[in-house]
Parts: sequence; structure tokens; C-alpha cells
Amino acid sequence: MVLRGGKVVDATGSRRADVLVVDGVVAAVAESVDAPSGARLLDASGCVVAPGLVDLHAHLRQPGREEAETVESGSRAAALGGYTAVVAMPNTEPAIDSAAVVREVLDLGATACCDVRVAGAITKGRKGEELAPLAEMAALGVRLFTDDGAGVQDARLMRRALEYTSALGVLLAQHCEDDELAEGGHMHEGDWSSRLGIPGIPTEAESMMVARDVALAQLTGAPVHFLHLSTAMAIAMVRAAKAAKIAVTAEAAPHHFTLTDETVSSYDPVYKVNPPLRPQADVDAVKAALADGTIDAIATDHAPHAQEAKELPFDQAPPGMLGLETALPLAIGELDLPLERVLALLSWQPARIAGLAGQHGGPIADGAPANLTVIDPDAVWVVEPEHLASRSRNTPYAGRKLTGRVRHTLLRGEPVVVDAEAQR
Ligand code: DOR
Repeated sequence: MVLRGGKVVDATGSRRADVLVVDGVVAAVAESVDAPSGARLLDASGCVVAPGLVDLHAHLRQPGREEAETVESGSRAAALGGYTAVVAMPNTEPAIDSAAVVREVLDLGATACCDVRVAGAITKGRKGEELAPLAEMAALGVRLFTDDGAGVQDARLMRRALEYTSALGVLLAQHCEDDELAEGGHMHEGDWSSRLGIPGIPTEAESMMVARDVALAQLTGAPVHFLHLSTAMAIAMVRAAKAAKIAVTAEAAPHHFTLTDETVSSYDPVYKVNPPLRPQADVDAVKAALADGTIDAIATDHAPHAQEAKELPFDQAPPGMLGLETALPLAIGELDLPLERVLALLSWQPARIAGLAGQHGGPIADGAPANLTVIDPDAVWVVEPEHLASRSRNTPYAGRKLTGRVRHTLLRGEPVVVDAEAQR
């Protein structure tokens, strides 16, 4: 196969080049590649050929919540969004907290449209009480552990988990939320929550746990990854920790750099998410942190929920919004960063955090696995929930005009998306 006429962009820079793919591997990257006879040509003119995107944070809902998403439907959404690898979160039913459930999800991922990696739970049942068998899951290739959806509240247990993950050479990722402070809250605590009469979740519910875990990262020497950061205060703590050479990394989700808590004035649960949407000053802080490197990656926190659940009153509806099919255009359109920087945040930086460097995230060079995405950065399209590949419809961007669209996605050389259509 030849990707013809595009601009190749990866961590090494950008150049006009065709890309020849043979047997799932990049075989040549050159100004002009002669297509071998019988080779399939994919047009990439006017497009950027990039390493496939890597999502550190996707809820694929299997096992247990197949009405909302499956590994198959979620991976199709991912491929359409330009992703060649996603990390599936463990807040499934049952939770991914044992070798048996890890194996089940990896088996489902074997035939998926993207590489499906699994995050294991830190604690049994994600209850925050007793460590899950981390070594047993690490032996199956699990590289990231989190109780996402809940933060580990017990500092002593968190310390113990960090000592284990450090010894195993894997990464602990924290959902930063102090349960006591957040108790009963359904949106950001501030002017809008007061006006709307909806109980709020204060900024400090996030930043207090970040402060604690920065201290524990320093104490143990183990790296900590902060999931979906949403507040200026937490971001300032991560910035200071990095300056002090403490081993922390962080991600932000597209909704936290594109939407504010004002949207909740519609009372539409599509805007309910955890951590909640914040005021403009926090949105600006997330953008600044993505620009200055304090935040290492954009992660979708793709959180599908069945329509019935999202149609409940605001205080009863579950938190979460779709993300896989809209993350790239939102980053292109809203961040005011060069495309190379946007791709760093969506592809090679998360690939490194997930332990996937070499397989995903480029560089696009001879011998590298052909996990690639071809992006038309100027294509304009409108988000139509009914046309998304996800089984769920809970996108807060319905009707929004976005710029930038994935044209083709190649997984190990196989075209899983061609001309913005899924191939399986
Ligand atoms: O909004 C959210 N939804 N935040 C989380 O942390 C979990 C997620 C979910 O699983 O639905």
C-alpha cells in the first residue's frame, strides 16, 4: 500500500513524502515512492500522515455495560477518530481487577479496529480498600493501573500501591477527587452552581488529592500520572512538581479546554461529567498547560452512557461524555497550537506514558509498525450524534461545526478507516 501525496509529521519533524507499507510495516518514506504492482493507493494529498493517536483514557464498558459501548464499537469510534491504540479503563462490571478480566478484555481487543490495551484497577473492585493483584495483571502486559471513576482515598494504601508499581515498573494513574469534599456534588461549585441550585464539587476536591500524590510520588520515587485535570490550582501543583523534578505526568480531556460550567444552565445531563466542567479561568489554565508542557497528553475520557441514563434529571444522570470521534478536531480548532504540537499531545507523548513507544506514536520510518492516521486538517464537518460509531449518543458537541477530520487510519498496515468510513 502507498499513502500518496501527504505531508508526513512525527516527533522528528515534517516533510512531504509518500509512505510505502508492506506486511504491516513502513517500508519506505520518500519524496516519491514507486508503487509496486498490485499495491493499493490511498490518497493523502492535502493531508497530514501522522502516527496513529493514542488515548490514555477510554471507557469501553465491556464487560457489563454493553448497551452503552463494546470493545468493538468503541474501537471503531477510536479508529474513526484517528486512534490506533486506546487504554481501556477498568470501571467495568466486574471491574478489571484480576488476570481473568484482563484476559477477557484483551481477547475482545484482538479483533478490534485499534490496539486495545487495558488499565488494571489499583484496588479490588475499585473499592479503595485492598490492593488488587497488580503483579498478576502486570504479567499480562498491563502497564497502567487506576481506580478511575474513583480516587484512592487512603494515603497509606496509595503509598503501598506506589511502592508496588515502582517495583513492577508500571505506572499508577490517579483520578483526583477527594470523596468527602465532592460528596453530593453534581457540577463545579461556584457562581453557576449557586445560581442553578445544584450542589457543587469544589476545586479543592481535585487539587488536594494532587497535592497529596505529588508528596507521595516524592516519598516513594514512583511516577504518578494525573488523569483528566480540570483546575488551575491542580495544574499549578503539577507545574511546581515538575520543576522540582518529581516524576509526575498529566493529561487533560477535550471538554475541559472547550466547555465551561455555564453550559449546565441548560440542565442538560449531557454536560454532566466528572471532574465537572469549570469556569473560563480553569479552561484557560488547561489550555496554557497544554501549550507549555505542564500537561503531557490529551486523553478523551470517552465515557459512553445509554440514552435512558442520560435522560434522567441532572442530579440522577451518570457523569461522562463521548470523546473519541471529536478529540482531534477540537484540539486542532481550539488550542491555537501548531499541528505538530497537537499531534505530540495526542500521539507520541501519550504513547510514551502508556509504554507503547516503538509500536505507536511513530516515528514514521522504515521498519516501524504501520500504525498511522491520515488527517485532512482543513475538512469541515458537523457532529451528528446519530452518525457516530459509538453505541451511545452523549456528545456535548451535537450540531457543532469542527475543522479537521480523519481520512484514513491504518492499524498494523490494514486500512481500518478509508475516506472517513470504517472498514469493519
Ligand atoms: O465523567 C466521568 N465518567 N468521569 C469518570 O471519572 C468516569 C466516567 C465514566 O465511567 O462514566
